[in-house]
Amino acid sequence: MLETKDLIDFSINNWYEKFKHITLETILIDIPDHFFKKLVCADEDEDETNSDPVEENAEFEDKLKNAINSLDKNVFVKNNWHAPVDARVFSFGNTLKASNIDDIVLYFTTSTIIQEDFTSIKGVPFCLALRKWLSIHPAAEFRCIVINNVLRGITPRDWPTFYAHFKEEGPEIIDRLTNFYNEKIKSKFPRKNYVVDIVLSYPDEPFVLDFGALNGKTNLYAFTWKEIQPLMRKECPEDVAPVFRYLETDIGIMTRADALSKFARSQMV
Ligand SMILES: Nc1ncnc2c1ncn2[C@@H]1O[C@H](COP(=O)(O)OP(=O)(O)OP(=O)(O)O)[C@@H](O)[C@H]1O
Ligand SMILES: [Mg+2]
Repeated sequence: MLETKDLIDFSINNWYEKFKHITLETILIDIPDHFFKKLVCADEDEDETNSDPVEENAEFEDKLKNAINSLDKNVFVKNNWHAPVDARVFSFGNTLKASNIDDIVLYFTTSTIIQEDFTSIKGVPFCLALRKWLSIHPAAEFRCIVINNVLRGITPRDWPTFYAHFKEEGPEIIDRLTNFYNEKIKSKFPRKNYVVDIVLSYPDEPFVLDFGALNGKTNLYAFTWKEIQPLMRKECPEDVAPVFRYLETDIGIMTRADALSKFARSQMV
C-alpha cells in the first residue's frame, strides 16, 4: 500500500488543479457516506430501520448526473488514485465508459483494485474523479520515470507489444516527451521521484493522464525496479537524455520476463 504522503501527493484531487491545463477535463466529487456504503458493500443487506437519506441521495445523484452530462455523457471513472481496470469486462466493448450512476456502481463494486483501496485506506477522504472519456490509442501512452527531477526512462504502457513505428519515431518521441516534461511538469509536481503517464497524440499537444508513486510496486513495464532503484541514490546531469525502451523486433507472443531479458545488457546510464 502507498504511504500516507504518497496517498496525498498522488491523489488526483491534489494534483488536478495545478495541471488541469495539460490533462483531461475532470470533475472531482467527494463521496458522501451513504454513497460510499453503496460502493463497498454491494451485497450487504441494507438496514431497513435506518432513515433513508432521500434528500441527500437525490442531491448527490443530481450532482453526478450533471457532471456526466457536462462531460459529453460519457466518462471514465476513477477513485483518487485508481481506475477499475479489472472491471473492464463488465463494460460495453471493454471501454470502461460510464454514462450513468449504475455503470459507476457496477465498475467500482466489481473491481478488486477499487475495493482494496476503499477497505484498506484510512484517513484520506475518497473522491470520484469523472474524466472526459477519450479513445486513446494504446501505442500513444507512455509511462515516464522521473528520478531526482530528471526524466530518465520512457516505456510504452502497452508492453510487451511490438510497434514498428517506435524505431523510426523514437528520437521524436523522446524529444516531445522531454520538452513537455521540462516545460510543463518539472519542479511543478511536489515530488522528485515519480512516474507520470503521458499521451502523445498527433497533431494535438501531449497531455498527462496520471501521476503515480515510484517504488518497488510500481509497474515499470519495460524497466525493472532493480535497475531504477540505484539511480535514485545518484545525482545525474540535468541534460542527460532519457532512455526510451521498447520492443525492437516482432518476435511473436512474449511474456514480460522474456521481453525484459532481452534488455539485460542494455543498461541505463
Ligand atoms: N479518460 C479516459 N478515457 C478513456 N480511456 C481512458 C481514460 N483515462 C484512462 N483511460 C485508459 O484506461 C487505462 C487505465 O487508466 P489510468 O492509467 O488512469 O489507470 P490507473 O488505475 O491510474 O493505472 P495504474 O495503476 O497503472 O497507474 C489507461 O491506460 C487508458 O488506456
Ligand atoms: Mg495511475
